[in-house]
Amino acid sequence: MFAAQAAAIGAALAFGGASARAAPVARNERRDLFPQGVASGDPRPDSVILWTRRAPDSSGASHRLAVEVAADPGFRDVVARGDVAVTAATDWTCRFLAAGLRPGREYWYRFVDEAGNSSRVGRTVTAPADNDDRPVKFAFVSCQDVTQGAMNAYRRMLYEDARRPHAEQLGFVLHLGDFLYELVWYADERPGGMERGRRLRDIVRYPTGEKVGTFHIPANLEDYRTAWRGYLSDPDLQDARAQWPFVPVWDNHEFNWRSYQSQQIINGEIRPAQTLKVAASQAWYEFQPARVRKPGSGDVFEAPAVENQPLTALDARGLGQEPNNLAAINALQIRRAFRYGRNVEMILTDNRSFGSPGGDYSGLPEIKFAAMPEEMLEILDQAREYGGGSPPATIRVGEEIEFPNPHVDAPPEAYLGLEQMAWFKDRLRGAEAPWKIWGHSFGTLTGRTDPQNLPEAFADQWPAGAGYGVTTGAYGLEHGEIFDMVREEGITGFTILAGDRHAFWAGYTSKTLPPRAFDPVGVEFVTGSISAQTLGEVQALTMPKDRPLRALNIHDRPDGSMECAWNMTLLHGVQSSLVLKETGDADRARAARNPELAPHLKFLDYAGHGYTTVRASRDELETEFVCIPVPLERSETEDGGPLRYRVAHRVPLWRAGEAPRLTQEVLEGDPGLAV
Ligand SMILES: [Fe+2]
Repeated sequence: MFAAQAAAIGAALAFGGASARAAPVARNERRDLFPQGVASGDPRPDSVILWTRRAPDSSGASHRLAVEVAADPGFRDVVARGDVAVTAATDWTCRFLAAGLRPGREYWYRFVDEAGNSSRVGRTVTAPADNDDRPVKFAFVSCQDVTQGAMNAYRRMLYEDARRPHAEQLGFVLHLGDFLYELVWYADERPGGMERGRRLRDIVRYPTGEKVGTFHIPANLEDYRTAWRGYLSDPDLQDARAQWPFVPVWDNHEFNWRSYQSQQIINGEIRPAQTLKVAASQAWYEFQPARVRKPGSGDVFEAPAVENQPLTALDARGLGQEPNNLAAINALQIRRAFRYGRNVEMILTDNRSFGSPGGDYSGLPEIKFAAMPEEMLEILDQAREYGGGSPPATIRVGEEIEFPNPHVDAPPEAYLGLEQMAWFKDRLRGAEAPWKIWGHSFGTLTGRTDPQNLPEAFADQWPAGAGYGVTTGAYGLEHGEIFDMVREEGITGFTILAGDRHAFWAGYTSKTLPPRAFDPVGVEFVTGSISAQTLGEVQALTMPKDRPLRALNIHDRPDGSMECAWNMTLLHGVQSSLVLKETGDADRARAARNPELAPHLKFLDYAGHGYTTVRASRDELETEFVCIPVPLERSETEDGGPLRYRVAHRVPLWRAGEAPRLTQEVLEGDPGLAV
């Protein structure tokens, strides 16, 4: 049974039995021969995947690598062994399914080559048994750029976990993507070796690459592998991967920052990129141990032969039926679901391979304020499906603007696609654990603003009568379909965990917001980035001091320091941020809030970095936002440096027909304008 499981995911098997009980042998630890460290992934009650990369010797000959799995860190009780050849065909990486393990316990593992050279020792944890009622604890993260920041968040995570009681330690790290950034600025090409306030590290340099503007992107498989090798040379990231099993999905940057399906958008031009999509998927498979479906049997990713072709024949959700496109986007299937103890069902989707091309957004009326009128966005976003399939011929914005609807015949914006949506709904319906957790790379919570409430002097900013403006909030059709199902079928414990936004958010998922119905069917938490730049940082660096309405984005304190006022603008409204500018008093500012704007948000910080932990028990789910200062340089201290704040949100399990209710507690530090 384990052999078939291992083969299906391209892993060799490490198993117990008599041969595992060999006497301990002296090992010579040579971390330099395993320069990307070790890792484990996708734990189940009886098995976990183990990973390493044995760097090639100058001869380029293949290596025979053995893995040893032990019940103790000294390897006196070895419980499983296996061995496999590693070659250039997988860029010298390998995967083992360590099987026949016991649920909910720690194991240690190491890899040994034929000469007795050993990797560092990794530690991993199997999933609890399906009926294990103990609280589940894990962390979730996203968005780590090692070329322009430090992995202090992982140091902090390691430091804190080592000091927790055993029963409260993290079982795994859910990585929601942007594990790496494929766009790289080279230090020697930028003034002072800096890019927008960040010191550039010379960690990724593409052998081929392509220069786009001021940065470089990968052009082939070897370039993607180069990025992975560089990223995994980071010592703190290596320590984290050696300490916990990771459960990864990708976001956009593991392939391309601006793309859909197998098509890149470069300088506004659509470029068919099936071969590149396959290369990105292959490199992901080689460096991320996960239970994913890949082409070919055995360890090697047998890349399908594809040609770069434009998309043709879009289906009802915009998926191109062109055969090379389908082959490329299905080459690696990363969506998956798993049970973790009695209390958690985890459903992970691929949010980036099946996305619609996006309609034509040129020729829209010019609006100064950086938001889209809510109704206009919904009509454009849902396109021909708007209003149950009867979109208006023209779009009215407030009292004075009316223009032809360019999306009358376009497919709606979608990212799951029809097939994945059907799978997702099946998994959600079938989930038996109280907490149904959707690992979602970019999140569903709408960001809204109320420019209609600006003072008369700014009347030119926003069309009269246009109502609320939306800053993030596409994919209304798919979200509505899912939220309706959750409501109609009485599904409770529906929880979304997300990344991508480089911001901490906590709130409720609701299909519509006031003045329409506010009807929460679940809760959502978005984690701040590990190191990638936040909107708050970028605005503080780039926004002109004399910009009208600067106060909506930045609060300039008398001492010259800045705070991210955009948090307040989205949580409480434009009036609050203007009162803050006048008085410098956050409480008076909150008293001027627009209560209709964001009843769905409890917390929002567009300037926070760090990670989030989750604790799920039978009747309560708790998250903790652990926020650190901007990680410009690697912390010198064991704890990874100071904390900015630690904020908990708790939600008791609600019953069918009830709405979830979040409570908030500031445990440490000061979240400032994020509440
Ligand atoms: Fe990101």
